[in-house]
Amino acid sequence: MIKVGVFGVGHLGKFHLNTWKNIEGAELIGFYDPNDEMAIQVEKEYKIKRYADAAELTAMADAVDIVAPTTHHFELTSMAIRKGKHVFVEKPLASTMEEAKEIVSLTREAGIKLQVGHIERFNPALLSLKGTQLNPMFIEVHRLAQFNPRGTEVSVILDLMIHDIDIILNMVNSDIRSISANGVAVMTDTPDIANVRIEFHNGCVANLTSSRISMKRMRKMRLFQKDAYIGIDFLEKKAEIIKMEPEPQKGQFTFDIETPGGKRTIAIANPVVPEENAMQLELQSFINSIRSNKPTAVGEMDGYRSMEVAHQIIQKIQRNQPVL
Ligand SMILES: NC(=O)c1ccc[n+]([C@@H]2O[C@H](COP(=O)([O-])OP(=O)(O)OC[C@H]3O[C@@H](n4cnc5c(N)ncnc54)[C@H](O)[C@@H]3O)[C@@H](O)[C@H]2O)c1
Repeated sequence: MIKVGVFGVGHLGKFHLNTWKNIEGAELIGFYDPNDEMAIQVEKEYKIKRYADAAELTAMADAVDIVAPTTHHFELTSMAIRKGKHVFVEKPLASTMEEAKEIVSLTREAGIKLQVGHIERFNPALLSLKGTQLNPMFIEVHRLAQFNPRGTEVSVILDLMIHDIDIILNMVNSDIRSISANGVAVMTDTPDIANVRIEFHNGCVANLTSSRISMKRMRKMRLFQKDAYIGIDFLEKKAEIIKMEPEPQKGQFTFDIETPGGKRTIAIANPVVPEENAMQLELQSFINSIRSNKPTAVGEMDGYRSMEVAHQIIQKIQRNQPVL
């Protein structure tokens, strides 16, 4: 059994506490949270031991799960790695690039497993496309959320857009050629809404809009590639493939259209979305990596690269601000 300690039992940390109970091969030994009111309530309700000292919980655990605010990721992650413990750390990996760089080198030196909580990689809607060749040349993304003070210690780029950055970097097999970005700090001191265009060397263009000041929630990614459109709804957990299908499969809905090149048959398919819980999949995957000594599904370099792109975007937005 891998002994796990949870650091931070706020909004997301409580979901983690519940999920750890269902992870095979893991034993939740306790949590640490400096907020007395929160910790006393959690200890009582969840019947999980509270550690008053972060270093003590780190020493007792084989693996730590860091669900504290992003500004604390570095101190907690580096302490755990220096003690040779495996780390699951929520996204984004850290607050600054210097911190992220240090985490990457500490992880490599210590030879521990580190996974970053880019949970959307485990979203069942995305998983339903496992057998589908994804080769997008144009990507349109909308990730819109209602305002909530949680997470506003960082900009909407590091809070929300980083999920899509991670997925796109993992999907588009090419280096970035250029980034243009614009963002506005409406409710907080950092951008709350942003629009970003990322151009890749292979010609792919991704257009991302993220907002944490919207009236309605939306998490949609639309992929356009040769002969196909693929829609992924991360919120509703649905996917759709519309394909130019010279030989349509049996049972698929099809219709014909006239194109300049002649008649084409279009097939519409809704892949079966597995009834899985993304958090359970990501934490189980972390434990499996430790037990089988295999790389984690979303490693320190994935976390680093997403942060690198996020920071380039933040810099572009800063440069675009008017001088008053
Ligand atoms: N993967 C996702 O989709 C997702 C979603 C939400 C939040 N997050 C990430 O999870 C982290 C926590 O977010 P949240 O919404 O739960 O925040 P939150 O403010 O609700 O909870 C954070 C908790 O951490 C505690 N804390 C503060 N300093 C600490 C320390 N040094 N050690 C341990 N605990 C400490 C606070 O007292 C609080 O209880 C953030 O990094 C955020 O980016 C990820």
